[in-house]
Amino acid sequence: MSTHEHLQFNLKESDVLVCANVLIVASPKHAEAIDWSESSDALPGLVVLPCENTAAVPQSAAEAASLIVLEIDPHNRRSMDRLGELKRKLPDVPVVAALPDASVALVRMLVREGVDDVVSLPFKFEELLETAADVMAQKRNKRHGDTRLAPLFAVVRSIGGCGATSIATHLASALGENDNSGRGVAIIDLDLQFGAVADYMAATGRGSIADLLGADERLDEELLRSVARPCADNVSVFAAPDAIMPLESVETDRLLHMLDLVRQHYSYVVLDLPANWTSWSLSALTAASSVLMVVELSVASLRQARRRLDLFASVGIEGDEVQLIVNRTERRMFKTIDVGDAAQTLGRPVLGSVTLEDPLVSTAQDQGLMAHQLNRKSKFQTDVRTLAATLSARFPAGGPA
Ligand SMILES: Nc1ncnc2c1ncn2[C@@H]1O[C@H](COP(=O)(O)OP(=O)(O)OP(=O)(O)O)[C@@H](O)[C@H]1O
Ligand SMILES: [Mg+2]
Repeated sequence: MSTHEHLQFNLKESDVLVCANVLIVASPKHAEAIDWSESSDALPGLVVLPCENTAAVPQSAAEAASLIVLEIDPHNRRSMDRLGELKRKLPDVPVVAALPDASVALVRMLVREGVDDVVSLPFKFEELLETAADVMAQKRNKRHGDTRLAPLFAVVRSIGGCGATSIATHLASALGENDNSGRGVAIIDLDLQFGAVADYMAATGRGSIADLLGADERLDEELLRSVARPCADNVSVFAAPDAIMPLESVETDRLLHMLDLVRQHYSYVVLDLPANWTSWSLSALTAASSVLMVVELSVASLRQARRRLDLFASVGIEGDEVQLIVNRTERRMFKTIDVGDAAQTLGRPVLGSVTLEDPLVSTAQDQGLMAHQLNRKSKFQTDVRTLAATLSARFPAGGPA
């Protein structure tokens, strides 16, 4: 196997692909010294432009390039000006400087001028390919680094049936309605054994988060998109598996990695959680931007909420990141417990309250609809929209920073 073949073999497929559309601008002597036709597999779309190292680089060729390899004579003012001009016009296109030999001081000077890397002249194909792959990989990582992770809202219940899943699904919808980024909102059903998110949102499809948690290093954006079930209001559902999955089979690292990946690709991420607390579900909470505990104004709900809040505090999830949502509030003159009592008893701020709207919410869910799809004036969804507005004012959507 030649070195060239070996190098291609060692590069991941994605690295080979991102070396597409390289523009080489070099003096005829160096440009013509290599038979570039041999390189078309590794550098698809390669353009070689033989010209003197002071001649201006044609704008159209430079704009079409994903990386420019530019011959430079560091002792020639006009050659250096050409580099400066190129960086000014196309600051985001990486530039690799090509020169006969470069001292450390010279490389540092070129880096200050905006050069991303240096290759030696005459060109050596392997060095060029390796440098181009490196620079493109750095650019890709930087791009990811420039992406703000989506805020993660974990909706947790106090007692069974208190409305956590209904609020989580409608919250995702309310956040999705206002999302114009094209990224959308993700809702992840971590209630692995009894998850109802896909049913409530009529999100049909075959893939589930079991596919993501079992994927290991194959977990990437493509797999994510194949599992996501698109629904109304820019929401994508990551459904719980059809078959009951043992809770102890979840590996915390994989779960956290999956959450990170989803947060890289959506504007907001909402989590629905299981009734039983395990180390992985608590770890998911520690990753959350905000933990929203759904309570009802009943002694039983507040008592269970207290126990869960104590558990969260024991693993460091406390303070303002934990807020209450009071569900099923009714406008009655005489109430035994009111919203203020809940906040005081539990020592946590109330993000907002959600009206009891019976039977609209459950009737809508039975039909796989959101409450506002059945009744545009749903009070339930109006309240959830207010929660979404408060949250999005505090946590800007994920996306380019
Ligand atoms: N504000 C409300 N007004 C009317 N019905 C509601 C309201 N909140 C929830 N419900 C209804 O209560 C039932 C239970 O709600 P949901 O499934 O969201 O609760 P949960 O806390 O997720 O329950 P589980 O413990 O089973 O996960 C559903 O039928 C839902 O339609
Ligand atoms: Mg639920």
